[in-house]
Amino acid sequence: MTLYKYQIGIIGAGNMGEALIRGLLRSKLVGTKNLIASGRRAKQCRKIHQKYKIATTQDNVRLVKNSRTILLAVKPQNIDALMPQIAPHLNKRHLVISIAAGIPVAKLKKGLKGFKAIVRVMPNLPSLIECGIAGIYCTSVVSKSQKRFAHKIFEAVGKTVDIGREKWMDAVTGLSGTGPAYLFAMIEALTRAGEKLGLPKKEVRILTLETMLGAAQLALKTKATAEELRKRVTSKKGTTWAAMKIFKKHRFWDLLMKAVAAAAKRSHELRGK
Ligand SMILES: NC(=O)c1ccc[n+]([C@@H]2O[C@H](COP(=O)([O-])OP(=O)(O)OC[C@H]3O[C@@H](n4cnc5c(N)ncnc54)[C@H](OP(=O)(O)O)[C@@H]3O)[C@@H](O)[C@H]2O)c1
Repeated sequence: MTLYKYQIGIIGAGNMGEALIRGLLRSKLVGTKNLIASGRRAKQCRKIHQKYKIATTQDNVRLVKNSRTILLAVKPQNIDALMPQIAPHLNKRHLVISIAAGIPVAKLKKGLKGFKAIVRVMPNLPSLIECGIAGIYCTSVVSKSQKRFAHKIFEAVGKTVDIGREKWMDAVTGLSGTGPAYLFAMIEALTRAGEKLGLPKKEVRILTLETMLGAAQLALKTKATAEELRKRVTSKKGTTWAAMKIFKKHRFWDLLMKAVAAAAKRSHELRGK
């Protein structure tokens, strides 16, 4: 049996790669001696090595030969160049996890010369502060323990959801992958509204952000649906009633649903590009 020096090898120590390194070490899923990361630039490798005391390399072949689980954290446009480099060095004991948005398993399988134990993940931006949510799709040859391990990796930077069918990954991309931007847009709009009504910037910021966070936490903690919660705070002719009248008039719900559908459609269109 091959004994690998590293449990996890992360190819691409950029934003997501670094967030995973940080989360994995903090959660103690792996120790500094069991983790390796690669980057294209020596400076980047040095920075990661000094900051996290893990092994780093510019040599992806070295990383693959020495790691049991290979995590592809490069941009989707860099996947094509990467795959032929690592494909000849993959074997049955490896597990490949890709977070590259929109790259389907079929493309990975082909680029990796028929390698099958592949997991596709759609994380999101709050992973940077360990508050992410990741949709995880595992191919049928991925074992139960490999699947558990894949979930544990992303639990180190937030929460995970098992996605049973690959075709749902476009919807996951539209909903949670792109989702932080919907909230940022709402924060922008609420901030402008608060300031226009005369509130100072500092107060607007805290009132807006804590309102969003609190509402999401309330929705998570109660059994009531978001619609029930909204109706509960809307009394006839009250302030929320006045606000919801505008939402209804301008079809707020339709707008958001269209945005999510457009993002999912774009994810589908971008596959393989
Ligand atoms: N950020 C998000 O919110 C988010 C959400 C969901 C999914 N994702 C996915 O996560 C992946 C990474 O995104 P990111 O935002 O972390 O990108 P990023 O900050 O650009 O990180 C990618 C890193 O990979 C390095 N790299 C490129 N080719 C390489 C190679 N052949 N070998 C080793 N390293 C290589 C890049 O080096 P250079 O700096 O030299 O280019 C860069 O440091 C993407 O596929 C994206 O679709 C990201």
